[in-house]
Amino acid sequence: MHSPVRIGLMGLGTVGSGVFEILHKHPEQIARRSGGPIEIARVLVRDSNKPRRVPVPEDKITTDASLLLEDPSIDVIVELIGCPGGSVEPARSYIAGALRAGKHVVTANKEVLAKHGQELFALASEHRVGLYFEAAVAGGIPIIKSIKEALVANEMRTIMGIINGTTNYMLTKMAYEGRSFDDVLKEAQEMGYAEADPTSDVEGHDAAYKLAILASLAFETEIPVDEVYREGITKVTPEDMAYADELGYVIKLLAIAKAHDGAVEARVHPTMIPKGHPLAAVNDVFNAIFLEGDSVGELMFYGRGAGKLPTGSAVVADIVQAAQDLRRGVGGWLNGKAAVKRILSPMEVVSSYYVHAKVVDNPGVLAQIARAFGDNGVSIGSVIQKGVRQDPVSLVFVTHKVLEKNMQAALNQIASLPVVRRVANVIRVEGE
Ligand code: NAP
Ligand code: HSE
Repeated sequence: MHSPVRIGLMGLGTVGSGVFEILHKHPEQIARRSGGPIEIARVLVRDSNKPRRVPVPEDKITTDASLLLEDPSIDVIVELIGCPGGSVEPARSYIAGALRAGKHVVTANKEVLAKHGQELFALASEHRVGLYFEAAVAGGIPIIKSIKEALVANEMRTIMGIINGTTNYMLTKMAYEGRSFDDVLKEAQEMGYAEADPTSDVEGHDAAYKLAILASLAFETEIPVDEVYREGITKVTPEDMAYADELGYVIKLLAIAKAHDGAVEARVHPTMIPKGHPLAAVNDVFNAIFLEGDSVGELMFYGRGAGKLPTGSAVVADIVQAAQDLRRGVGGWLNGKAAVKRILSPMEVVSSYYVHAKVVDNPGVLAQIARAFGDNGVSIGSVIQKGVRQDPVSLVFVTHKVLEKNMQAALNQIASLPVVRRVANVIRVEGE
């Protein structure tokens, strides 16, 4: 057995305490699998007086990051402080400082990686150390290792994922219980899934960070998070849910990335998918990622995308990997530079659409809207009208696949028709 690998644990909140618990639950098994013992040398927190859920010896707890970063006996920094208040600092500087000091780094911080991954991976490579991030995407689902290792023989074609558990919980409740967005948000907050400020989840930022990380890895190109098209779930109504059901769909917040010739599309938005699609059955807080590789074909990964033990499981797997790499004297991940791929603008993306318009119930209204679609090359797949002799009535269309640019032109024309009170919602349709 080798001497212990010494860990500097930054953060002892939900995930940090899960990591502590797992490392102390099976120490022999983890030592055997890591090639020697793993020891938590020091723990960084914000408030050293806070009561802790796990029994960390008091003398190991500190609020001084330099005691971890500048201690040459600490081999691996595990960064689990996140981005409180939406700031990447100090997490970004701690990760960079640890890499510069020649320490391996394990992180679950999707926001830092999505915004500063290129800089941090370059630093890791320069200092010949590893930057491990399994827990940053889809919590306990081993999707990063799968793409990096098990699926390395493939050229990836498609990634479609439910990678935000909070919004999946909310959409499941809306679909099955007919409840409103505000009502299910309140419940998600009471259950501890959604934060007091739910913006990152409900506006799709969290899913966009994760998609930027996944797609950059799978398609071997930098996908800046600002170039991921993003729409949240705040405009999804019980009425849209009911129409989706009637049309044979469910609505999910999907993160979608597809490879094209020399280009990549990446988008996060509410999406209607057929009830028979494998992702349609992924409910509550569960996550799932559907992948298509040129050799392996279609695959789906399913599991818990958050929570102290599922996420802790992914972090501990990275710690074990880092310990093995240290003991073998290797660092980092060998990967040549692939050609940079262009990221498609939203207008260049092709999709089918659900369009819900509130219109005057008069003869010829349907024909006027159909003409606006036709004028812009949009082909209609199905139409539903609900309500008679009311003002307004709902007209719902599902289109065939069309370029977004054409769809937007059609929508502008439709919105300007005097018989159209408003275009109530437009939701993309995928997976047919
Ligand atoms: P958390 O419960 O809020 O815990 C954060 C911890 O970091 C706390 O112990 C806090 O100290 C400490 N901390 C915060 N700012 C600090 C600072 N400036 N200096 C020193 N310590 C600081 O967060 P979490 O849910 O465990 O999330 C940690 C990371 O994992 C985040 O990047 C998150 O996105 C990611 N992640 C979380 C989950 C999940 O299920 N929660 C799932 C996947 C990924 P105090 O305890 O003293 O306040
Ligand atoms: N807030 C995230 C979710 C968990 O709801 O999936 C952390 O990534």
